[in-house]
Amino acid sequence: MDSPTRLLFVCLGNICRSPAGENVMNHLIGKEGLESQFVVDSAGTAGYHIGNPPDLRMGRAAKTRGIAMCGRARQVKPSDFSDFDWIFAMDRSNYDDLVAVRKKCDAPTAKLVLFCDFCEAHSESEVPDPYYGGPEGFDKVLDLLEDGCGVFLRKWKSGELD
Ligand code: 4NP
Repeated sequence: MDSPTRLLFVCLGNICRSPAGENVMNHLIGKEGLESQFVVDSAGTAGYHIGNPPDLRMGRAAKTRGIAMCGRARQVKPSDFSDFDWIFAMDRSNYDDLVAVRKKCDAPTAKLVLFCDFCEAHSESEVPDPYYGGPEGFDKVLDLLEDGCGVFLRKWKSGELD
C-alpha cells in the first residue's frame, strides 16, 4: 500500500483556521473511510498560543456542523517542509512567512499552496482571520474549508494530484 499523504494546515495562531482545516479534513476523510491514507496536522507561523486548544468560538461553529475540534497549537518548523507532502497556507501573509521558513529546510519537498486555490464554490483567495470579529467569521472559515477540503479529496481520489 502507498504511504499516507501528509497534509499540514497553517495559519497565524493555530487556534482558529488551521485546526479547523485539520478537523474538517479529518472529518471528510473519515466519511470516505480513507483514514489509513492520510496524516493531517496543523501549525501556526507565530508562537503566541503554543500548547493551547482550539478557540472556543471555532469549536462552537464546527460543532453545529457535526465536527469536533481537537488538537493543541504548535509553531511551524523547517522540517515540516520535508515531513509533509502538502502545506496549505490560509492567507497570503501565512504563505510569505512559510516561504521564509522553507529557506531553513535542507531538503524541502512539500508543495506549498494557498488553501483557497482548492475552493470551487467560493471566489475568495484567502481564508480571512476570524479572531477579532464576530461569529459569522467562524462560519465563513468553515464554508471555505469544507469547499476546499472536499475539492482536494476529490482531486486526490481521481489521481489529479499525483
Ligand atoms: P488563527 O487566528 O491564525 O486562525 O489561529 C488567530 C489567532 C490568534 C491571533 C490572531 C489570529 N492572535 O493575534 O493572537
